[in-house]
Amino acid sequence: MECRLDGQVAVVTGGSSGIGRGIALLYAQAGASVVVNYYSGHEGAAEVVRQIEAGGGRAIAVEADVSREADVEALFAKATGAFGAVDILVANSGIQKDAAFAEMSLQDWQKVIDTNLTGQFLCARAAVRLFRAQGERGVSKATGKILCMSSVHEVIPWAGHVNYAASKGGVSLLMKSLAQEVAGERIRVNGIAPGAIRTAINKESTEGEAAQRLLKLIPYRRIGVAEDVARAALFLVSDMADYVVGATLFVDGGMTLYPGFEDNG
Ligand code: BGC
Repeated sequence: MECRLDGQVAVVTGGSSGIGRGIALLYAQAGASVVVNYYSGHEGAAEVVRQIEAGGGRAIAVEADVSREADVEALFAKATGAFGAVDILVANSGIQKDAAFAEMSLQDWQKVIDTNLTGQFLCARAAVRLFRAQGERGVSKATGKILCMSSVHEVIPWAGHVNYAASKGGVSLLMKSLAQEVAGERIRVNGIAPGAIRTAINKESTEGEAAQRLLKLIPYRRIGVAEDVARAALFLVSDMADYVVGATLFVDGGMTLYPGFEDNG
């Protein structure tokens, strides 16, 4: 049996690049109509839409700042306007604004929390409201699915990145608490915690000598690619994972396995 999403509509935030782009493309291949949300990456989003359409799929690109309530409402209105419904939300938009703790500006703290955590709250709330209004659509065993993009840094503390780590720690319990609250309505909420995935967000640490240092933190000795996360993301929203509720799937090559202890500690 394959993971298929035929007849379903997916909203993927931050779908213009990186992990979001990989998910948007794979969901379309699995038969979903995809709403490719972007904030600044207009060209990237348009390219994802072009690729999906070239493969015979359906997609639209929609600009929205996920941290702004009005933008999120408009995003979901455009999604239903174009495709009639939404069955899947991938709350994926995320940013990093790194700084040593004492040097971190309030603005950089706030911006990361706004996008990574408040953005997921606003998008998930819009999705839950819509799933309730839609009711059963007969396209999936669940009434709706929400996937929260977290990070290994929901559990691994990260010096120099406290805003990011705090946002992902928040995503972890946002996801689980929401999963508990709406499971009775057959809305499935889960999360993915990627490790080091080669995308624009970590270009510096995944190239050259830095990449060699990074590989020491990955027992599987490979830096991930967007498709590694996309495949897990497809499984989690498909009916193959119908009994998976409130779980975080770590897609990290073993980064959370305390690699410092590999050689007897
Ligand atoms: C961060 C990346 C980092 C990875 C592993 C991700 O959540 O966005 O920059 O390479 O975690 O540390």
